[in-house]
Amino acid sequence: APGEMVDPFGRHVTYVRISVTDRCDFRCVYCMAEDMQFLPKRDLLSLEELDRLASTFVAKGVKRLRLTGGEPLVRKNIMHFIRSLSRHLDSGALKELTLTTNGSQLTRFAGDLKAAGVERLNVSLDTLNADKFKAITRWGDFDQVMAGIKAAQAAGLKLKINAVALKGFNDDEIPAMIEWAHGEGMDMTLIETMPMGEIEEDRTDRYLPLSEVRGRLAERWTLQNIPYKTGGPARYVEVAETGGRLGFITPMTHNFCESCNRVRVTCTGTLYMCLGQEDAVDLREPLRASEGDELLSDAIDRAISRKPKGHDFVIDRQTRAPSVSRHMSVTGG
Ligand code: GTP
Ligand code: 5AD
Ligand code: SF4
Repeated sequence: APGEMVDPFGRHVTYVRISVTDRCDFRCVYCMAEDMQFLPKRDLLSLEELDRLASTFVAKGVKRLRLTGGEPLVRKNIMHFIRSLSRHLDSGALKELTLTTNGSQLTRFAGDLKAAGVERLNVSLDTLNADKFKAITRWGDFDQVMAGIKAAQAAGLKLKINAVALKGFNDDEIPAMIEWAHGEGMDMTLIETMPMGEIEEDRTDRYLPLSEVRGRLAERWTLQNIPYKTGGPARYVEVAETGGRLGFITPMTHNFCESCNRVRVTCTGTLYMCLGQEDAVDLREPLRASEGDELLSDAIDRAISRKPKGHDFVIDRQTRAPSVSRHMSVTGG
């Protein structure tokens, strides 16, 4: 039906993540290799093409759009694109327009984002220790990110802090991070590391099941399951002692694929129907083949009819090989 995308498992696709650039000003060790080869600029969809793509999805029933990267705010003229997309908020077609960001550019963009109709942001932050922050991002500036978070709060944006749980890196810090985020009035989400792309580190050794983390947090605090839902895969609890929300994203220990509502598109126009699968459909060719959106719309329908049941992620202690060869930064999660 027009205005609706339903996959073979009866799941409605209402959430699209668009990666606007594969570039990032950081190199988080679990996300990218140090010597990443970025795409030549000519391979990227133009902002006009990205707008057509996003608008086609909205016409097909998408209610939530999330811009990702790489780091979305390093794409040139990104605010122009976001302001243009906000027409879908004004028309009521879109419920939410938001971003996942590393926070490095927020002192510059927070006010503009809020003015464009963005109401909340997810900020990736894995530690509160400036030296550890430098180590995990390879050269990121912790104070710059903290200033960005403050600027976003001052602009009236609601924030969620995303931390990937990493054994021997931030496991000892998790309670302190939760107290900090909740103290600042922010939600906090913990994420299990996913085996995507070759990296120099051994991710297998860093893998920390969140079932374990949750068990330890439950000895310290009262965690109450709450029905709070965003478009994403996190399951939330309220921490009674802090009064804040804590989310768990558990692709490894508690698969959430049966309620999947989303697909993602790369900055070159490749549609991935699942984060944890290699199968993809090219949208750039149909996008460029005609001025109308019919070919594009048909290509999207064909892709949705191929959406797999779930991801193939495994943490393999024997081979230690990634389950999916592309890096997380290709699709921005
Ligand atoms: P909310 O709208 O706040 O729920 O955002 P979100 O959790 O959908 O997006 P965010 O960019 O903050 O993603 C947080 C983590 O969830 C990232 O590590 C993503 O890779 C992961 N994630 C999001 N969607 C999926 C998914 O469909 N499958 C898997 N395995 N991970 C996902
Ligand atoms: N596993 C889990 N999460 C990851 N992210 C990046 N790489 C990985 C990975 N291998 C997270 C980032 C960001 C979000 C988009 O994905 O920290 O919060
Ligand atoms: Fe950049 Fe985000 Fe990947 Fe870190 S996780 S390298 S901040 S895209």
